Amino acid sequence: MNTKQKITRLIEFLFGILATEAIVFAILFYAFEEPTRLVSAQNEILQTQVDDAMTLYAENCAVCHGLAGEGIGATPSLDNDGLRTMDYDELVKIIARGRYETAMPAWNKTDGGPLSDYQIGELAALIQSGDWNATRDRVVNLGLAPLVPFETEPDPVIFEQIGALTDGAVLQQAVTLFATECVACHGADGLGTSLAPALNDPLVREKAADELTRIITLGTPGTLMAGWSSTLAEEEIAALVTLVTRWDEVPLGAIPAPDVPVPTTAESLALGEELFAANCSRCHGPEGQGTPRAPALNVKSFLTETSDLAIQQIVTQGVPGTAMPAWGDRMTEADIQAIVGFIRQWEATAPEVATPARGGGGGPPWLRSDAPADVFVPPGQQTDGAAGQAADPQAGATDHREGSGAGGPPDGYGGGGVAAGGEHTAGEVPPWAQEQVQPAWWETLDQRVLVLVFSGVGVATLLIFVGYVALRRNPPSDGE
Ligand code: HEC
Ligand code: HEC
Ligand code: HEC
Repeated sequence: MNTKQKITRLIEFLFGILATEAIVFAILFYAFEEPTRLVSAQNEILQTQVDDAMTLYAENCAVCHGLAGEGIGATPSLDNDGLRTMDYDELVKIIARGRYETAMPAWNKTDGGPLSDYQIGELAALIQSGDWNATRDRVVNLGLAPLVPFETEPDPVIFEQIGALTDGAVLQQAVTLFATECVACHGADGLGTSLAPALNDPLVREKAADELTRIITLGTPGTLMAGWSSTLAEEEIAALVTLVTRWDEVPLGAIPAPDVPVPTTAESLALGEELFAANCSRCHGPEGQGTPRAPALNVKSFLTETSDLAIQQIVTQGVPGTAMPAWGDRMTEADIQAIVGFIRQWEATAPEVATPARGGGGGPPWLRSDAPADVFVPPGQQTDGAAGQAADPQAGATDHREGSGAGGPPDGYGGGGVAAGGEHTAGEVPPWAQEQVQPAWWETLDQRVLVLVFSGVGVATLLIFVGYVALRRNPPSDGE
């Protein structure tokens, strides 16, 4: 064996060893890194689940369990350690099947509810490891915070009048019950909300008392209307049925909607500001100070006299016969609530008297026929035109505000985050969700197995090396 051959063999050996080492280290690296990678992947999955669940919660649970799981009235809180440490499967079971004979409905599709197994798992994950402040913000940002509170007080004067009607005591009892148990969904005076239909309605009055009793007692499966048989006595349900069938005799205002503020978040206020700049400022002024086209909104008299609910209704329905459009068919409820929250912010600093930028002339200037109501004028130019008079003290201030107020592009508000959140939830069970339930084989690998493999490979490497050294010392006799 000549030197050249020896060198060739040496190089072959070295390469062999290097390749073995490389493979061994690659395997070891993978084996040790994989669990960490899996843990972070699982955390990501959990985050996605909790994120989905916040939207599900907003859509399905907030109405009974509160904006942030704090519980409302007789409905228990979901934000507590008892539930956080409860057996996961037990919690899933409660949500899936509901609590028989309580207002807690079954949510699983197999039990007549609207949610899949996977979605119920997500909700359980939210209850056990979610963030309730973030959940509150989600409910508000989706515009799903009910404006009507869970309870209200019957109007004392009308309450007295009701007592004088036939079976007045029964009607009074029903009004009190309705004001605590039903108003949150069926609305002030039973006129309905976005959550539930009106009960103070000729079509409902036509229904047979038996049918109404059945609905109130057993509920309507798959809807928010839960059965009340365990919460209310038979005689209380009968009183409610009497109220529903005789509501035309009860004066309006008996069960009023109290003044509840629209809940806001930083995100909703920013959205409100953007939407106001894009849609309202051209008539009401960039800072709501009013223009010749429309009255001031940023003024004490308006803001103290008008509840958030009333502003929401005006904006939704418009003012018929004036230039004030109905925004309900162009904007979501979330958008409108965001604007109301933004307008309400002005109250603290609103001037006593509006000083709108307007020309001379009698009567409310926005009612004059020459007001170019429907011509879109970008906020900047509009202020110049309307407040053009150099003498107007508002002009300077308005220009100054322009920079911050009219920043967003008019069409840029689309509520991207909100919409995306909603869409996400509607999706089917993603394939990775299945994997997550069944851990992969390497996840269950014990560290001890890895140590065993490691030492095995180490010993093998050593043997190869010893063999190589022996071979060098004692090369096999060359047959060539
Ligand atoms: C119609 C009102 C209503 C809605 C909507 C509702 N719940 Fe409930 N929920 C209740 C009531 C009432 C109870 C208490 C039942 C009882 O007395 O055991 C309850 C109980 C629970 C409990 C058990 C609490 C405990 O401490 O034992 C969980 C968990 C729960 N609800 C989760 C949810 C989830 C998740 C949603 C949305 C998918 C939801 N609920 C929607 C009314 C409601
Ligand atoms: C969590 C929301 C919620 C609460 C609270 C609630 N309801 Fe309902 N209710 C609904 C919904 C939603 C429907 C419509 C169900 C459907 O689609 O058929 C409904 C339907 C009804 C109907 C049938 C109306 C019709 O046109 O057939 C009656 C009657 C009724 N509710 C009475 C009551 C009474 C009485 C109370 C208080 C004890 C009450 N509800 C509390 C959500 C609610
Ligand atoms: C085309 C012009 C125009 C636009 C755009 C407009 N409004 Fe109005 N708005 C009016 C007029 C005109 C009135 C006064 C109606 C009346 O005479 O009662 C009004 C009245 C109102 C009122 C009641 C004020 C009061 O004193 O009672 C509110 C609240 C309101 N608008 C909010 C909004 C919001 C929020 C937007 C944007 C989403 C908006 N408006 C966009 C013209 C407009």
